[in-house]
Amino acid sequence: MKTSEVIEKEKKYLMSTYSRPPFVLDYGKGCYVWDKEGKKYLDLIGGIGSCLIGHGNKGLATVIQKQSQKMITPTNLYYSEPQVFLAEKLVKISGLGHVFFSNSGTEANECAIKLARKATKRSNIITVRFGFHGRTFGSLAGTWDEKYKKDFGPHVPGFTIVPENDLVAVENSITDQTAAVLIEPIQGEAGVKFFDKQYLHSLRDLCTKKGILLILDEVQSGNGRTGTFFAYQQYGILPDIVTVAKGLANGIPIGATIAKKELNFSQGLHGSTFGGNPLACSAALYVMNMVEKKNLMKNASIMGNYFVAQLRNIRSPFITEIRGMGLMIGVELTKEGKEIVQQCADQGLLINCAHKQTLRFLPSLIITKKEINKAIAILRKVLV
Ligand SMILES: Cc1ncc(COP(=O)(O)O)c(C=O)c1O
Repeated sequence: MKTSEVIEKEKKYLMSTYSRPPFVLDYGKGCYVWDKEGKKYLDLIGGIGSCLIGHGNKGLATVIQKQSQKMITPTNLYYSEPQVFLAEKLVKISGLGHVFFSNSGTEANECAIKLARKATKRSNIITVRFGFHGRTFGSLAGTWDEKYKKDFGPHVPGFTIVPENDLVAVENSITDQTAAVLIEPIQGEAGVKFFDKQYLHSLRDLCTKKGILLILDEVQSGNGRTGTFFAYQQYGILPDIVTVAKGLANGIPIGATIAKKELNFSQGLHGSTFGGNPLACSAALYVMNMVEKKNLMKNASIMGNYFVAQLRNIRSPFITEIRGMGLMIGVELTKEGKEIVQQCADQGLLINCAHKQTLRFLPSLIITKKEINKAIAILRKVLV
């Protein structure tokens, strides 16, 4: 099919939820993707951070093929070996106690919210301004930006959104009905925004002191992207619950809610038909093994620092701030970034814009200096 035909069919047969550029991506290899016309792009958005070990990975394809021939899912009515192996790995790496598997980030957060309400027998969840937690009703209620929420009310009650980096605001919002604080340690959709380290420490202490749970949403910052498997490991705190998704299985849908052992459901109280299926879990196991074996967290850290240093050398009149941890990087602009994203795509570089004025980079953890240099050359052309 021609590009124009795909675009026509999309308009005709799909709901209008996405605004897409006028090309059709067809295949990928490593950090590169090609469209149907054969144009090659350096992909620095990597499936919004879900393409952890690169496109077209042959080893992963083999694992997926073998597992799909063996069995895609027995469903959660039955035990499954890849599921328990993956859970064991996530528990060991997180320092927490056990796991519930779902299929996406928003579901992982729904599970965390339900678990917090069930475990504390309290209903209120405090979230933070600019935070994004997903588009299903619970996660949406905790999401800040009205653009995602308007037209869908009434929203799930019991959510309070407080200003960022403001511990007093959290303290003042705590009532005898507060179950948890839900927060991204690094706010991704907000444009890669960081909290003060001291704030996150004090927040952990406050939650402990008040007997409420700290839930960290690491759907975007997790899976090794920041240089450690979870960003919280660099902040020296331990949550009661953490959620991950996106890159865990390199784009095969999966979400995981990892919690302290004492936080639990009773049988039948929560569930998912597809969550933790052997196909997704064996893919995730392969991805986690590759991240370890190829030292990709270290690479994320080294390449992230290199990328930020090169970005700082661009000296563009449009750049006001550059923020990053590992390969989660945001460049704050004086103007909307839409046009810049388009100009980069024209020159063969895929990036995206979060929160209108922030260019966001979430490349695969396998990225090299050579690829970063190539991206910088294009960005310099577009931004200076
Ligand atoms: C921090 C965070 N939480 C939750 C979500 C929702 O994830 P999903 O789109 O997989 O439902 C996202 C997606 O961007 C996210 O960045």
